[in-house]
Amino acid sequence: MNKKGFIFDLDGVIVDTAKYHFLAWQRLAKSLDIEFTEEENEQLKGVSRVKSLEKILAWGNKSIPEAQFTELMAKKNEEYLSYIADMNSDEILPDVPRVLNLLKQEKQPISLGSASKNARTILERVNLKSDFDAIVDGNDVSKAKPDPEVFLIAAKAINIKPEDCIVFEDSVAGVSAANAANMISIGIGSKANLGHATYVFNDFTEISDDFITSLIDN
Ligand code: BG6
Ligand code: MG
Repeated sequence: MNKKGFIFDLDGVIVDTAKYHFLAWQRLAKSLDIEFTEEENEQLKGVSRVKSLEKILAWGNKSIPEAQFTELMAKKNEEYLSYIADMNSDEILPDVPRVLNLLKQEKQPISLGSASKNARTILERVNLKSDFDAIVDGNDVSKAKPDPEVFLIAAKAINIKPEDCIVFEDSVAGVSAANAANMISIGIGSKANLGHATYVFNDFTEISDDFITSLIDN
């Protein structure tokens, strides 16, 4: 039986938390008088908390003392946590459970590869933690996406070679990370943003069981 490693990003792939990250960053940017567009937000997807704030400050041409930087990061996370506090399984994106169940039925190892330090909390809230054979998140890596580190660790954790792994990603940086890891990348979002992925779908409802089966067999 063929075994592939299926690695899922979390934010924007399994749950629509990307909107909460956006709201929290937007408010932070506003408090610093920095304009922050949806396009810029696209560049923050998949990017670690520290790197995100660095980018926002660079866009606004602002430099701040280290103590304020630390304070702002904590504030952003506090606001983000308040948004995710009430999350439940209703916020799992459409057809994600179908694909996870199919993979389990086909006995394919499943790993999480997320930049978020809140990943475990979110998986618990939406009751998906036990669906993953391994969880690799922002607490386990030293290099942020587009560096391939998170996916390489996620592959190792399920004992599958990188070239036999398939990554689901909604971010520009994450697709680049999967490609750099020599994995098949499946972009979840628009072709305009994720044209560098091996395949792109708007969401999981467009991903058929046959397509998943063909990934396992090839
Ligand atoms: C990624 C998100 O999954 O995690 C980013 O796409 C976020 O927007 C990053 O900045 C870090 O998340 P957290 O929860 O540790 O601040
Ligand atoms: Mg994401």
